Amino acid sequence: MKAPIRVAVTGAAGQISYSLLFRIASGAMFGPEQPVILQLLEVPFEKPMKALDGVAMELEDGAFPLLKGLVLTSDAKVAFKDANWSLLVGAKPRGPGMERADLLKDNGKIFIEQGKIIDAVAADDARVAVVGNPANTNCMIAASQARRLPAERFTAMVRLDQNRAQSLLARKAGVDLTEVKNIFIYGNHSPTMYPAYPHATISGKPLPEVIGDKEWLRGTFCETVGKRGAAIIAARGASSAASAANALVDHVRDLVTPGAIHSVAVKSNGAYGFDPNVWAGMPVRTTAPGAYEIITSYQMCDFCQSKIAATNKELVEERAAVAGML
Ligand code: NAD
Ligand code: LMR
Repeated sequence: MKAPIRVAVTGAAGQISYSLLFRIASGAMFGPEQPVILQLLEVPFEKPMKALDGVAMELEDGAFPLLKGLVLTSDAKVAFKDANWSLLVGAKPRGPGMERADLLKDNGKIFIEQGKIIDAVAADDARVAVVGNPANTNCMIAASQARRLPAERFTAMVRLDQNRAQSLLARKAGVDLTEVKNIFIYGNHSPTMYPAYPHATISGKPLPEVIGDKEWLRGTFCETVGKRGAAIIAARGASSAASAANALVDHVRDLVTPGAIHSVAVKSNGAYGFDPNVWAGMPVRTTAPGAYEIITSYQMCDFCQSKIAATNKELVEERAAVAGML
């Protein structure tokens, strides 16, 4: 049996965590051979801490063989201590009529503090995945506080958007989901994101040959993927939770699986014309557990370039809006 890894999860009594924690404990994220110790952070108020006790009871009652320990705390220094992975879920979700960027002022502060503490107390091999919205910019904020950990260790989740795009394309083409490949998300986790359909394939053929409806691809498809979060809020009265947890399982599992190719928001370093200092979704290839390289070989048509310019502009504006905090 391998030594357990420490996985810190923030917002552990929230909606996403209620789906996420049980998947981690079951081995879905780190594999069936990897024991885990879950270090769960909540805000220091009676209601969430009591709810966290209840979640812990249910984790115990799951009798998960891989779950080797549980830490429940409202102290970030305890939650992130020696953490190999920190999953930053805890933040306010948006309500109807809001954009994710509207959360920046409230949620940004959380990521300043947590970025500093992770840098100070997490394990030497620490990796961070940000889910709390606006995820890309919160990730940039957390990374800006790090002196010890390199920026590449901080990633934000656009995998839910990739999964949404893959599922929608499969339904449109009338094929099994697994026939849709190489659909990657560029830019912000917001309606400006670009799901780059020209590079995707369906049953091994270029996607534009299978779905010839250019109007639908440029319009309805991009818009539906970009606004799916809002559609779920309108339908459920609360933001996506189980599908977000599932996407985070995919995000981390693929980052620890060498050879996996997937969409991750990373420090762009100028790839695809993004501002070098924003965290933008793009295709990466996992090179070793926790390490990745950006795939820079996709050619961008004029339409792709205009979409990337728009989502880059938004990321640069979000960065400017929090510049005073960094
Ligand atoms: P939720 O309100 O159900 O849970 C959030 C939890 O975080 C709450 O229990 C709250 O007490 C806790 N929390 C708040 N501040 C904290 C802090 N500083 N430290 C630790 N815990 C803290 O919300 P949710 O539905 O679980 O969503 C969480 C976040 O994830 C939201 O910002 C939401 O918009 C975002 N989200 C992102 C994606 C994505 O694809 N990136 C998808 C879905 C949701
Ligand atoms: C989503 O995409 O479902 C989440 O980011 C929640 C939201 O605010 O849209």
